[in-house]
Amino acid sequence: MLDWEALEQRCMSCNQCGLCSTRHHVVFGVGPRNAQIMFIGEGPGEQEDLKGEPFVGPAGQFLDDMLSIIDLSRHNCYIANIVKCRPPRNRDPKEEEQDACIAYLRNQVALLRPKIIICLGRIAAKRILDPNFRITREHGTWVERKGVWMTAIYHPSALLRDISKRPETFDDLLSIRQKIRELGIAVMPPGL
Ligand code: URA
Repeated sequence: MLDWEALEQRCMSCNQCGLCSTRHHVVFGVGPRNAQIMFIGEGPGEQEDLKGEPFVGPAGQFLDDMLSIIDLSRHNCYIANIVKCRPPRNRDPKEEEQDACIAYLRNQVALLRPKIIICLGRIAAKRILDPNFRITREHGTWVERKGVWMTAIYHPSALLRDISKRPETFDDLLSIRQKIRELGIAVMPPGL
């Protein structure tokens, strides 16, 4: 296992899959490196690739709104993706691209040791929770593995496209807030 600095350095110069040839920036992850809550998306989009930061485009703005509903923010969550480089035209990351990249995420999880992991969307849920995960049926359900509580919710991009999914996601967010309370995780708004 590498420490944060070595891991980030290695990731920044990665050429383990074809995505390295089209990327502008590697999108390693953001957030406090002692956060107890971790969000995992699928992979960088256009804005993220240009900026080198996860969830900074329209889906990211929506994610920020979702976080604020339950008093979370980028100040108290760590945010990363399954793949660290943008798949061209925002296609789903291929299995072999995920395979090439997943060790970085595992190392991030091992360093962070979050109490809660929230998968954003189908791709992350299938990779992290269960290859047969059905997001429409199983979003908002919880599993505990090795002391880490895990769930999946709809991806913010899906919620931007399909507003009919938003009420269910609101319930899922409340369930996340409940789990945070149950586990005694302190999430003060910044400045307090
Ligand atoms: N969608 C993702 O899954 N991750 C990002 O960082 C941005 C959009």
